[in-house]
Amino acid sequence: MTLLAVFAAAFLSLAAAAPLASLELRDVYTPPVLYPHAGTVWKIGNHHNVTWNTTDPPKQITNPIGQIYLTKNLINLNISLASGFNILDGRIVVKVPDVTPGDKYAVVLFGDSGNFSPFFTITH
Ligand SMILES: *[C@@H]1O[C@H](CO)[C@@H](O)[C@H](O)[C@H]1NC(C)=O
Ligand SMILES: *[C@@H]1O[C@H](CO)[C@@H](O)[C@H](O)[C@H]1NC(C)=O
Ligand SMILES: *[C@@H]1O[C@H](CO)[C@@H](O)[C@H](O)[C@H]1NC(C)=O
Repeated sequence: MTLLAVFAAAFLSLAAAAPLASLELRDVYTPPVLYPHAGTVWKIGNHHNVTWNTTDPPKQITNPIGQIYLTKNLINLNISLASGFNILDGRIVVKVPDVTPGDKYAVVLFGDSGNFSPFFTITH
């Protein structure tokens, strides 16, 4: 298990909607987050599309309901940026929350599994 997988598993246990079965390797769908990416800077209060790559999804997706959390230093801040959307949508608008400005922020996208963006920065 990679470090990220361990964190993803921890997050999944927080996300009540995600069944533990989704931790099984078979049919797990983890579309890569495309935006935010390394070098992204978000201003508090602005709106942005978080996007992810939905090319080649599996035929069967165990849990198609997406959820996006904000993390800092890979620690879940328990700030839900978006929830209840379809993982196949490929994008969802989020509002940058009023958090301490800094770097090492990342979003984590849940559908069948957890998927972290690269680190990015939040400013005033
Ligand atoms: C998000 O993407 C949609 C579709 O491309 C676009 O219409 C909308 O303006 C975007 N919203 C933001 C906040 O960038
Ligand atoms: C999306 O995923 C497909 C299949 O893995 C890949 O060919 C494509 O380059 C990806 N697109 C982006 C924008 O990363
Ligand atoms: C996370 O946030 C939700 C709702 O905002 C709250 O009900 C829950 O207790 C929080 N969990 C933790 C671990 O802080």
